[in-house]
Amino acid sequence: MAAWQRSLVGRLGLTKPARSVLHRLRSVEHATQSARFFALGYRYGRQFPALSLPIPEAARDTAGPLEAYFDAHTEGLGIWKWRHYFDIYERHLERFRGKPVNIVEIGVLGGGSLQMWQDYFGPETHVYGIDINPESTALQRDGVEIFIGDQGDPSFWERFLENSPTIDIVIDDGGHTARQQAVTMESLLAHVRPGGVYICEDIHGPFQPFHSFVDGFTRPLSDIGLPRDHNPASPLQQQVASVHRYPILTVIEKSASCTSSFQAPRHGTVWPARRPRR
Ligand SMILES: C[S@@+](CC[C@H](N)C(=O)[O-])C[C@H]1O[C@@H](n2cnc3c(N)ncnc32)[C@H](O)[C@@H]1O
Repeated sequence: MAAWQRSLVGRLGLTKPARSVLHRLRSVEHATQSARFFALGYRYGRQFPALSLPIPEAARDTAGPLEAYFDAHTEGLGIWKWRHYFDIYERHLERFRGKPVNIVEIGVLGGGSLQMWQDYFGPETHVYGIDINPESTALQRDGVEIFIGDQGDPSFWERFLENSPTIDIVIDDGGHTARQQAVTMESLLAHVRPGGVYICEDIHGPFQPFHSFVDGFTRPLSDIGLPRDHNPASPLQQQVASVHRYPILTVIEKSASCTSSFQAPRHGTVWPARRPRR
């Protein structure tokens, strides 16, 4: 409830049902405003003609090790990735190279991407490949374990997590429906270790609902720093260090500490201490 509404409720001594109606009206106002600003941003993005500015030399793309691996990989197990993903992987995953790393990739298909991760991260990599297709088990080998199941089924993830160690990286490249993506994130994000990375691929379409799922999940982080927490971020939400939206791909990075990294201003150690407004 807004301050004016709280004060009105206090002054009028409104009953519980009346307060609940006011609360609902506030929710409708939020939803309407969100939809209006979504439409504004959508329209704004579409109104400009193509830019023809020269590209500075420093901004030109050069292939990193993953893209080079992909280009050199012309036979053997198939890899099925969009080209712009390689740059994103390197930006978020480079720091795991040469270390012991547990990576879960949903979607095995030809198995080439599992091999690519082993090559990229090094000999201490353990890849968990998940697929609905039972034939994928044929691709199991040293450092690569295959689990067969439906990523849209929460009970599959419960069984998977019973025997799995801490996860450093998740790459969801499975069935690509919003429901599958949401169930997978609901099941796995809490099990990704501090400092770990969650990637969801192939979120095709501006109105694909998984965008809204990520938005709904991370929105309470915007409540941090307000004098009163109406929608405080949960412990899991507070572990979100950053969310990166790329074309058809979203990355969530978890904070490197177990607890929220957003507490400092409340103790006045970073910002001047302020008395909370009443
Ligand atoms: C895009 S391909 C994976 C490509 C692979 N990651 C690569 O980079 O080469 C998608 C895979 O997801 C699997 N899949 C589809 N629906 C699934 C589901 N509900 N649960 C688990 N895997 C699923 C398919 O069998 C297919 O092998």
